[in-house]
Amino acid sequence: MKKRVLGLVALSMLAMAGTSTAQDDPIKARETLMEQIGDAMKVLGPTAQGKMGYDAAKVSAALTTISTNAADFPNHFPDGSIGNSDALPAIWENKADFETRSKKLSDDAKAAMASVDGGLDTFKPAFGAVAANCKSCHEKYRKPS
Ligand code: HEC
Repeated sequence: MKKRVLGLVALSMLAMAGTSTAQDDPIKARETLMEQIGDAMKVLGPTAQGKMGYDAAKVSAALTTISTNAADFPNHFPDGSIGNSDALPAIWENKADFETRSKKLSDDAKAAMASVDGGLDTFKPAFGAVAANCKSCHEKYRKPS
């Protein structure tokens, strides 16, 4: 019995260690959010181009990921967290603009959900509006690769 309790304590400590790493490492947290946005675009882009069969459920799920992650993204830029990330100092100098752009991507992805049921014809222009957010923000706030 005692052993089992100890085991549980060890497990919950492990679980806590897991969460605190994600919280303590804002760079990892925001880069993961962006990677997931990138993965979602790998579904949406080819779908919009007609290179991938139109799957409304997949399109909705990808738009949800983008909307959710973009809303959370600006919460992971505490002062001094530039590290060796790809974030540019301009983010901290233009916090309000950076937050507005993050919110716009989130809102555009949410708005695009209304286009999903209409199939490719309605999804395509909505996708264009979502995709337009990436480059303009990267140009201003992300190190050129
Ligand atoms: C509000 C500004 C903003 C918008 C909008 C934005 N990004 Fe980013 N993105 C960034 C910044 C800043 C980084 C660098 C983060 C870092 O390294 O700390 C980044 C990094 C990335 C990365 C690399 C993640 C990694 O592992 O280092 C990918 C992939 C990415 N973005 C994809 C996208 C896509 C696709 C879109 C459009 C759907 C998008 N982003 C929209 C600001 C933005």
